[in-house]
Amino acid sequence: RVMKLRSRDQWPGCALMLRFLALALCGVLGARALNNGLARTPTMGWLHWERFMCNLNCQEEPDSCISEQLFMQMADLMVSDGWKDVGYEYLCIDDCWMAPQRDSEDRLQADPQRFPGGIRRLANYVHSKGLKLGIYADVGNKTCAGFPGSFGHYDLDAQTFADWGVDLLKFDGCYCDSINHLENGYKYMSLALNRTGRSIVYSCEWPLYLRPFHKPNYTNIRQYCNHWRNFDDVSDSWQSIKRILDWTSFYQEKIVDVAGPGGWNDPDMLVIGNFGLSWDQQVTQMALWAIMAAPLLMSNDLRQISPQAKALLQNKDVIAINQDPLGKQGYRLRKEDNVEVWERPLSNLAWAVAMRNLQEIGGPYSYTIAVVSLGRGVACNPGCFVTQLLPVKKELGFYEWTSSLKTQINPTGTVLFQLEAARMVQKN
Ligand code: GLA
Repeated sequence: RVMKLRSRDQWPGCALMLRFLALALCGVLGARALNNGLARTPTMGWLHWERFMCNLNCQEEPDSCISEQLFMQMADLMVSDGWKDVGYEYLCIDDCWMAPQRDSEDRLQADPQRFPGGIRRLANYVHSKGLKLGIYADVGNKTCAGFPGSFGHYDLDAQTFADWGVDLLKFDGCYCDSINHLENGYKYMSLALNRTGRSIVYSCEWPLYLRPFHKPNYTNIRQYCNHWRNFDDVSDSWQSIKRILDWTSFYQEKIVDVAGPGGWNDPDMLVIGNFGLSWDQQVTQMALWAIMAAPLLMSNDLRQISPQAKALLQNKDVIAINQDPLGKQGYRLRKEDNVEVWERPLSNLAWAVAMRNLQEIGGPYSYTIAVVSLGRGVACNPGCFVTQLLPVKKELGFYEWTSSLKTQINPTGTVLFQLEAARMVQKN
């Protein structure tokens, strides 16, 4: 196994040198994996899991079962309804695409009834629309839904995906026998994908599965993965969104600085446009996913989505914050009884600021904050232009550094602002 270092017992000197060489080699290969040139900004696209799960019943539910038809329809809509134009590019398959067995040459294969054209033809179709195709596999012996796992077949599976023209791999972590299996497997697959020579975004769940046993080493994880899930699966509920935000702020010291071009914390899919979130809660998810520099992977039904949810997901100003080229993740700046303030540094000395009303009772909550406390004291020094982006766009004008920003936030909702630095013109 590539990752195992030789024991030092018998040949201390020689083994030490080998160890050094192996570490150096790992470092180089790891760095190359991180440097796959991909995900320089958070990945944007669509992922089937939250909305469509593992629906195999194409007889009775042909429109919502996991089939090539579902992905072809989503591909069509991603182009015709403007999703691709605003940046949603990766159309991603999650669990349950596979046949229950590998083929005669041990390769993974798509279920022949549900994907009669196979993945290669689907990839061609998706590429013909100018989109990219994502697929799903598992580092362990089985996928979470019980389909064949990649353990023992990492090279073969990486090559199979590359041959098919796949552009992203979500690699799940179910059914691992040990921590070593999990960690070595995630690393090995990263290198295997790299060796295929095809550009494949590598989406991991390594820290999520590792955390119950020991603390993830994020510097290490970042060397191998383009994004990584830290926390439980999102579901279509306000409770789920709140838990993800609470987890993220609780661990922000550990995770925020690790994120940057090429590697991102992944708080899981956007569930905007489904059933469980109110309008204000959908605004909160969009605003905070932008602040968190999160991959924007929608899991919804693009055939049936309200104009309001569509406009929110396609909001170019908010997407621009998410995709800001500086690539710094935001953090929770303060938490009071009823309000949380989050902020994110952006390029050109701009800042994004989100204010959440935590109250789930009453009406809009009035909140005032001194602008000098935002953006590490420099965002509005000596002044800044403030634009409210969500829930609706409003130019609020110029703020001096001694002034206060007042707002009203709906229960469970968020107001998102952008602060642009106003520089003094030096007169000689
Ligand atoms: C795990 C992952 C989910 C999804 C399912 C599929 O729970 O965390 O995102 O991929 O498996 O079975």
